[in-house]
Amino acid sequence: MTALLDAKGLCKGFGGVHAVRNVSFVISTGEITAILGPNGAGKTTLFNLLTGFMTADRGEVHFNGSRLTGLAPDRIVNLGCARTFQLCRPFAGMSVEENVMVGCLAPRVRCRKMPRRRALEIIERVGLEGKASLQTHALSHGDLRRLEIARALATEPRLLLLDEPFAGLGASEAGNLAALIHQLHGSHELTVLMIEHRLRELMQLASRVIVMNFGEIIADGEPARVVLQPQVVAAYIGTPEDAYASARRTES
Ligand SMILES: Nc1ncnc2c1ncn2[C@@H]1O[C@H](COP(=O)(O)OP(=O)(O)O)[C@@H](O)[C@H]1O
Ligand SMILES: [Mg+2]
Repeated sequence: MTALLDAKGLCKGFGGVHAVRNVSFVISTGEITAILGPNGAGKTTLFNLLTGFMTADRGEVHFNGSRLTGLAPDRIVNLGCARTFQLCRPFAGMSVEENVMVGCLAPRVRCRKMPRRRALEIIERVGLEGKASLQTHALSHGDLRRLEIARALATEPRLLLLDEPFAGLGASEAGNLAALIHQLHGSHELTVLMIEHRLRELMQLASRVIVMNFGEIIADGEPARVVLQPQVVAAYIGTPEDAYASARRTES
């Protein structure tokens, strides 16, 4: 497998907060990798650095041989690196079909002559068939998550970054969305990097997990092994001493 994304020494601070601290990793073509970590660990900030929504204080990102550092988000999309957002951000006042058509007009898309037809194909692929003419405010939360993915897919990415795709979904909706991500990965030679909290979906999908805490990578490897590592357990549920102290506080 060849390196598709190469992040080296990324740092980003907000005032006194070191949101991302010296983060380096390589993503190979074809992998599904999950980024796991408690709230505030720096996961979304890392995505913002990779996709040009924020500028790193230090560090570099290379994607498919191109240097991404300093490029604007639209340039990065045009190199084949697309993302979704933790909070769904559809273009309000536009239908589902129009939302997806915007992505179909990206310069990197090979066949831009028939954006409507392509948009409808993608809408069907993500399971939103029959909803193309709906306004986005009429969609359920689960459907909005699918629309986010459809808009990103429309730009024909090689790497798809998903920021908490299962957030706010019930167990069955999340299971269906996991099946969709699995299918897209298999049939479209997509490499996927996803931020995820939900261990069940993560274990099903990801072959590798990178764990962040306080802006740093604290573990990286096969999910079943990584989630048992003491520093990962401590980041999620605290040390036995923390648990004891919190139990004492509750008692008193
Ligand atoms: N735009 C911003 N301005 C100031 N602080 C921010 C900003 N974005 C994130 N942070 C801070 O950076 C840290 C990491 O946040 P974030 O990357 O959103 O974490 P995660 O996605 O892992 O929950 C948090 O302490 C958060 O409050
Ligand atoms: Mg986040």
